Amino acid sequence: MTETIHVSVAWPYANGDMHVGHLAGAYLPADIFARYHRLKGNRVLMVSGSDSHGTPITIEADKRGITPRELFEHYHHRFLETQKQIGISYDLFTHTDTENHHRIAQDFFLRLHENEYLYQEIQKQLYSEEDGRFLPDRYVEGTCPICGYDEARGDQCDNCGNLLDALELFNPRSKTDNSRPVVRETEHFFMDLPAFTDQLLEYLAQHADHWRPNVINFARNFIEGGLKGRAVTRDVSWGIPVPLDGWETKRIYVWFEAVMGYFTASVEWAHNNEQPEAWKDWWYNPKAKIYNFIGKDNIPFHTVFWQSELLGVGSIYDEPQNRPLNLPYDVPSNEFMNIEGAQFSKSRDWAIWLPDILERYDPDAIRFYITAAMPESRDSDFSWSDFVRRNNGELVAAWGNLANRVLSFTYKHWEGRVPDPGELREIDQDLLKQIDAGFDRIGSLIEEVKIRAALQETLALAREVNGYLDRAPWFGVIEEDRQAAATTVYTALRAIDSLKILFAPFLPFSSEQLHESLGYTEPIFGEQKIVTYEESERPHEALIYDASSATGLWAPSDLEPGRRFKKPKPMYRKLDDSVIDEERERLGLPSE
Ligand code: MF3
Ligand code: ZN
Repeated sequence: MTETIHVSVAWPYANGDMHVGHLAGAYLPADIFARYHRLKGNRVLMVSGSDSHGTPITIEADKRGITPRELFEHYHHRFLETQKQIGISYDLFTHTDTENHHRIAQDFFLRLHENEYLYQEIQKQLYSEEDGRFLPDRYVEGTCPICGYDEARGDQCDNCGNLLDALELFNPRSKTDNSRPVVRETEHFFMDLPAFTDQLLEYLAQHADHWRPNVINFARNFIEGGLKGRAVTRDVSWGIPVPLDGWETKRIYVWFEAVMGYFTASVEWAHNNEQPEAWKDWWYNPKAKIYNFIGKDNIPFHTVFWQSELLGVGSIYDEPQNRPLNLPYDVPSNEFMNIEGAQFSKSRDWAIWLPDILERYDPDAIRFYITAAMPESRDSDFSWSDFVRRNNGELVAAWGNLANRVLSFTYKHWEGRVPDPGELREIDQDLLKQIDAGFDRIGSLIEEVKIRAALQETLALAREVNGYLDRAPWFGVIEEDRQAAATTVYTALRAIDSLKILFAPFLPFSSEQLHESLGYTEPIFGEQKIVTYEESERPHEALIYDASSATGLWAPSDLEPGRRFKKPKPMYRKLDDSVIDEERERLGLPSE
C-alpha cells in the first residue's frame, strides 16, 4: 500500500553558510529517508526553507552593516546552490519572507487568538538605555541560572540546553556593547502552553514506541516540569507584523512562525504545482505520517511548541470538513557532530563549511562519511583521518572497486554485454537471495530512521559480493571455462545492479552514474532545479525536485542477459593521506 509521508526539515537561519553539522544533524538523514520512500513508491513531500527572521539574522546584518533582507537573500541563494550540489532533494526549499508564509502565519496567529490560546500580558524586559530599545533575548548574555555556565544566551543555554528568559540570567550584559541593561515594562501576546499539557502527554504516550528515547524523555521532562506561557511577539522591527490594530510596532516571535513553515511550504508547493488543494493529503489525511528532522537544540520547539500551535489552531482552510491538523508522527532528532573533537563555533569561524569542501570532494564521498559518522544516538566527531580511512577502506575498497572490477572485466570479455549465465549454481543463488533480502531489511531500518545502521548493512552486502568473488570461478578460468566465468560475472553484475539501488538513497550521484554505465537510459531519481517564483510582489528563489523523470524502484535487479552496457568509469577517488594534514591545517590544527 502506498504511504503518504511528509518530511519536514528544520529551517536553517540564513545568516551564514551551511556546514557539516547542518548536514549530519538534519538534512542528510531527511534526504536519505525521502529518497528511500520515493523509491518505495510512496507519496513524499519534503519541505524546508531559510529561516529569515529573528535576532540571529539581525545581529549578523548589523555586524556587516547591511539590511536583514540583504543578508538572508545572500545566504538563501547559497543554501540553494549548496543543497543542490550535495543532493538534498526538497520538493520545495523556500524561505520565511514570502508573502505566502507571512499570510498563513498571520492566519495561524489570528486563529489561535480567536480560539483564546493567546493572552496579553505586561512583561518586564531588559532595555538598553544606550541603544534606546528593548533587547531581544539573544542580544543578552549572562550566567545560566540552571547550570551556572557564564556565557548563556538570553533565550537558551548552550551548555545545559534549557530554554531561558533573559531576565533569569545572573549578571546580564548587552551583547552589542557589554553594558548592563535595565528592566522595563512592555506588553506582549503569550501562548497558553499549559492549556495543552494533557493533550501533549497523551500525544507523547501514543508515540512512545517509535520515538527516540532522548527526544521523548526531553519532551516528557519539559512538560512534567510544568509548562509556562511563552511570549510570541517581540519589540523588534524585522519579522512578520502582528495582524492586530495597535500592534504595528511589534513583530511575531521568530520561532512561533518558523515552525509553521512546514505547513506554509506545503501550501506553497501545492500552489506552485497548480494543485492548490494537494497539501491536504499530508495535513488532513489521518494516515499520513509527518517526520520532523531536527538537531537536538531544536527539541522543545518541535515536541511542544509546534504541537501546541497545531492543536490550538485545530483546523484551517478546510471548510466545510474542518478536520484536525495532523501532528508529527516522529521527531527524529540527531545529536551534534563535532569537528576534530571540538565544538562547532560560528563566532570563531570554526566549522567545516560545505561550499568549501564541495570544491575538493565529491558529494557522495561527503555523504558517505557523514552518514557513517552520523550522530544518531550520541554526539559524534568529524575527523579528517577518519574521513580518509573510511573513504579509502570502505567506499572505494568495498563498493567502488567491486563495481569497477566486475564491469571492466565483463566489458572486456563479453564485448560490453551482460553474459548469459546458463544455470545458476547454489553459490550464485545463495548470494542473490542474500542481496534480495536486503531490500526489506535495509528498508525497515530506514523506515525506523536508523540511517547509520542501514548504511552499514548495505556495506556488509557489498562485502558479501566481494567474498563471493573470492570463492566463485571467474578471471582464473576465463580461458578454460568461459561458461563458469559467465555465470559468476552475471551473478555479480546482478548483485551490483541491486546494490546500486540499495545504495541510492545514501549515494544518489554515484548510483545514477553506475545505473547509466549499466546501460539504463532512464534515471533513478528526478531532477533538482533552482527556480524563481515571480507571481508574487516579492519574487523568490527556491530549490525544487522534479520527479517526473524518475524511474528507480526499491526492488531487486532482474538484469537480463544480452543487455548492452557502457565502458565503466570509476565512481570514487582514493584519497592520499596528505589530505589529512592539509585539511587539519585549514582548521588551524597541528599535523597528526
Ligand atoms: N532556524 C532554526 C535553527 O537554525 C531552526 C528553525 S526550525 C523551524 O536552529 F522549524 F522552526 F523553522
Ligand atoms: Zn545552563
